[in-house]
Amino acid sequence: MPFDLSRRKLLRDSIAVGAASVVSLPLLAEGVPEESGKNGEKEPEVTATEDLMREHGVIRRALLVYFEVIPKLRQNLSSVDAAALRQTAQLFRTFGEDYHERMLEEQHIFPLIRKQGSELKRYADILTEQHNRGREITDYVLAVTNGTKISSAHAEPLAKVFESFVLMYQNHAAREDTIVFPAWKKNFSDKRLDEISDQFEDIEHKMFGKDGFEDAEKKISGIEAALGFADLAQFTAPAPKP
Ligand SMILES: [Fe+2]
Ligand SMILES: [Fe+2]
Repeated sequence: MPFDLSRRKLLRDSIAVGAASVVSLPLLAEGVPEESGKNGEKEPEVTATEDLMREHGVIRRALLVYFEVIPKLRQNLSSVDAAALRQTAQLFRTFGEDYHERMLEEQHIFPLIRKQGSELKRYADILTEQHNRGREITDYVLAVTNGTKISSAHAEPLAKVFESFVLMYQNHAAREDTIVFPAWKKNFSDKRLDEISDQFEDIEHKMFGKDGFEDAEKKISGIEAALGFADLAQFTAPAPKP
């Protein structure tokens, strides 16, 4: 899903008709790293499971926003940016819940792993229950961030909700990445997985009208920047004191 098929086709066509001049070729090569390498070999595309896992990356970054806000809700409520929290919840809703969970996991992943033994069936049941609880919680976050400020009555309940939500989803996504997706992937040949990856891409385009992942990544980057979380270096842990 790194870039759409029409852009890929456009690139191929432009090279094929010789339109790729000396000037434009290096630019194209730089901007579109997926196309053929030196000897014409095709570089790997994003696989269906890789795609699901990088979507978890966006979800985890939204969780980090919630996590970072918890002490502010408790100690310095006036410094909490309600609009940024609301944007995070909106992104979680559209990209996480409505697309990643409802359209991919609940439609394509869980129905299959339910047939792969009682342990995986139990995973599918619990993960679905957690999706539903997540939606209730996102409704709540959207409701309490629907103003310029978060009221003091909502500060501690929201902090508690964020704590349990972050813990639930960290476990949820980690189990999907390491147990559920690998088990699901075993059902398919590489060729079939490639076709499924294209299907996922079609769903994404239908829902978002463009590259949903790139757009979601840009949105979470913007939220991080607004909240002062853009520089990754600030999260480097201090050395332990002996
Ligand atoms: Fe899930
Ligand atoms: Fe997931």
